Amino acid sequence: MRILWRLHGCCARLLTTTCFGTAALNTSFSTAWKPLAQHFDRLSGLFIDVQRNSSFRMHETVENKIDPELYSPHPDVRGMTILDRAAFKKTITVPVLKVKKEIINRLLKSLKHMVLHRAGLKRVIDDPEDEHHKLVLLDPHKMSSEGSLGEADRKILEQFDIIPELAKRDVEFTYDFFKAEEIFQAVLPEGQDVTSGFSRVGHIAHLNLRDHQLPYKHLIGQVIIDKNPGITCVVNKINTIDNTYRNFQMEILAGETNMMTKVKENSIQYEFDFSKVYWNPRLSTEHSRIVDLLKPGDVLFDVFAGVGPFAILAARKKCRVFANDLNPDSYKWLQHNCKLNKVDRTVQVFNMDGRDFLRGPVKEQLTEELSLSVKEKESSLHIVMNLPALAVEFLDVFKHLLDGEPCSSNLLPTVHCYSFSKHDNPAKDIQDRAEAFLGTSLEGRCSVRLVRNVAPNKEMLCISFQVPADVLYKRQCPPEVSPEEPASKRLRPNEDSSEEKSIS
Ligand SMILES: C[S@@+](CC[C@H](N)C(=O)[O-])C[C@H]1O[C@@H](n2cnc3c(N)ncnc32)[C@H](O)[C@@H]1O
Repeated sequence: MRILWRLHGCCARLLTTTCFGTAALNTSFSTAWKPLAQHFDRLSGLFIDVQRNSSFRMHETVENKIDPELYSPHPDVRGMTILDRAAFKKTITVPVLKVKKEIINRLLKSLKHMVLHRAGLKRVIDDPEDEHHKLVLLDPHKMSSEGSLGEADRKILEQFDIIPELAKRDVEFTYDFFKAEEIFQAVLPEGQDVTSGFSRVGHIAHLNLRDHQLPYKHLIGQVIIDKNPGITCVVNKINTIDNTYRNFQMEILAGETNMMTKVKENSIQYEFDFSKVYWNPRLSTEHSRIVDLLKPGDVLFDVFAGVGPFAILAARKKCRVFANDLNPDSYKWLQHNCKLNKVDRTVQVFNMDGRDFLRGPVKEQLTEELSLSVKEKESSLHIVMNLPALAVEFLDVFKHLLDGEPCSSNLLPTVHCYSFSKHDNPAKDIQDRAEAFLGTSLEGRCSVRLVRNVAPNKEMLCISFQVPADVLYKRQCPPEVSPEEPASKRLRPNEDSSEEKSIS
């Protein structure tokens, strides 16, 4: 069971970076053989010195191996802590194919899989000895397996009337052509994790560096700026996110100090000061998943609203929204974002503790909504509680929150409460804790979903359930509030609430 959760989490955490730059080529034939010795001596049979033997036939290749060091920057950069871009320069010898100028474009389309692709590097260069031809740079890695030199590639060349002969050229690889991962791998200590993954929040890249990476933090920050257009500031998290307002303590590693940022999530614009509020770009799917459950006219109470990613999305769907956050900065940006997205009339915002919000505005509104007869009332009520470290502990507020007669069970509000779990069975763990705070069993009347894997052995989950009438009302409920359609049925799309089913 644990493995299922872990797999899901790993998939969610894949992250890539890109590189860009300008080309710098050394196309001299005279130096071609020297680096060959460095890189291709081990690749028996693939390259033959152009000075001694100007070409070879691709199908003559008998054995090829991939050189894992081929795209490594100059080895002297190992241990560098202050970025010296010039030190990364390295000459790489690549195979080239001589092609008539007129057919270059058509051929490139067919040879896409073999061409050397590096952001900023020219794939086609002039042939200094022949003005009617050009040279296409090929990727040595793509050339070095039997498959890429096989029948299919030769047939392509035959179709273009090209003799399958390769020469070689020296290409000067500068800092610009190396990818961020290649740079980190070359600089940081060998054999240690060099993951350069980061969260992007507008122009800010947000890292969570490990101890062994800290001596290189400024270099890492600068490389991320260099290799990711649009990122102008890199910060590192310096505490675990355990403060009340869930914002990070952060250190600026490189770039500008401006923490005021703009992001777009689910087609909605948000603006805020990232150093003062909570924002996690990995929650966008969760925000839309919850709002997808709502229909126009429904009511959403967002107890821990942050700068508004559930609230504003729901308001844009024409739901009525009551959004609250204790952090005065979140409250300020929540108001601002409501205006920015023209939903300030639909969202009522509050700046209070979640308990007070539930006992005050939420209670008042629920009382009003639930006093309407079933006929009058078509909208449903949702309460979202995204404060995963603590929200479950707020569930006791629902105990006997409402006075008056228990309402029909299909009107009862649905709670979506988030929690972290390090338990072996996280779904059971969150259900057990929710039950303890509500003082009732949720067996058969809740669903639990994995939201994301937060850290090794730490999951974020969401438990959803309709607050049982006997919990919500002071007055005792009759044994069955609505026999035709019990709450449990509507809450359970599957027959049980087991985590495997929720994940699918
Ligand atoms: C994990 S963030 C979630 C923000 C937003 N809902 C989202 O999905 O991005 C939790 C929010 O709860 C707020 N918060 C923390 N303790 C609170 C409390 N006792 N009452 C109300 N809000 C609180 C924090 O300021 C923070 O904005």
